[in-house]
Amino acid sequence: MTEGDVMWQRKWVLGNWKMNGRLATIRTLLTELLPQIHDAQQVQLGVAVPTVYLQEVTECLSGSRIWSGAEDVSQFANDGAYTGETSAAMLADVGARFALVGHSERRQYFNEGNAVLRQKYQHCLSERVLPILCIGETLAEREADQDEAVVAQQLAILADLSLDSVVVAYEPVWAIGTGQVATVAQIAAMHAFIYSQILSLCGAGVKIRVLYGGSVNAQNAADILAVAHVDGALVGGASLQPDSFAAIIQAAQTAE
Ligand code: 13P
Repeated sequence: MTEGDVMWQRKWVLGNWKMNGRLATIRTLLTELLPQIHDAQQVQLGVAVPTVYLQEVTECLSGSRIWSGAEDVSQFANDGAYTGETSAAMLADVGARFALVGHSERRQYFNEGNAVLRQKYQHCLSERVLPILCIGETLAEREADQDEAVVAQQLAILADLSLDSVVVAYEPVWAIGTGQVATVAQIAAMHAFIYSQILSLCGAGVKIRVLYGGSVNAQNAADILAVAHVDGALVGGASLQPDSFAAIIQAAQTAE
């Protein structure tokens, strides 16, 4: 089996730094993290970082097993008069291996919906930047018993794209940055649902990774990663602490 095949059977642990860090703190974080992850040969690793630091992070991580990635990508494909935007081609040019698409904070603060997100997703595919589609319901939607309907609607951008692989991060909005983690039963039910939706949208042959995100930390990672259909974690706050992030990676390395 090639390395390319094996990664679809591994656990994935991706960090999302959000709008945090400075050149100096980033260098310290990576310098402290890298020596701690030597044993984690069975985990697919990455960090999504602020675009302005992407090239620096890519250089710091060259030769390591950690991918650098972007937190967002432009809806526009081609160079042009789009002030402030960063295209998928630019991300690829500075070494990004993946990009988050549709993080709930983008949906909330920038009103990103399916039409824009489908464009972003397609531009990533065109430039061989792996899109990681982020989905998840709000607390009000869950309380109204709409969680599956919302997630199904968010996944609909995957229809008719002829995909042979899909990576989704399920991040219930109410669990992000709150310390309130979804229960094992809630995670298991939603991840099974997401798998079934992807299979029906993309066909039986598609390779799938579904990551959980929302207050994952060194203490709860092992329990979360042991849940059926949880193929990894997308980690916010704890990815800014090298010891915590390394402990989560270690939990993924030993997860069944
Ligand atoms: P926290 O881990 O800080 O809850 O953030 C999760 C997240 O949004 C990752 O994309």
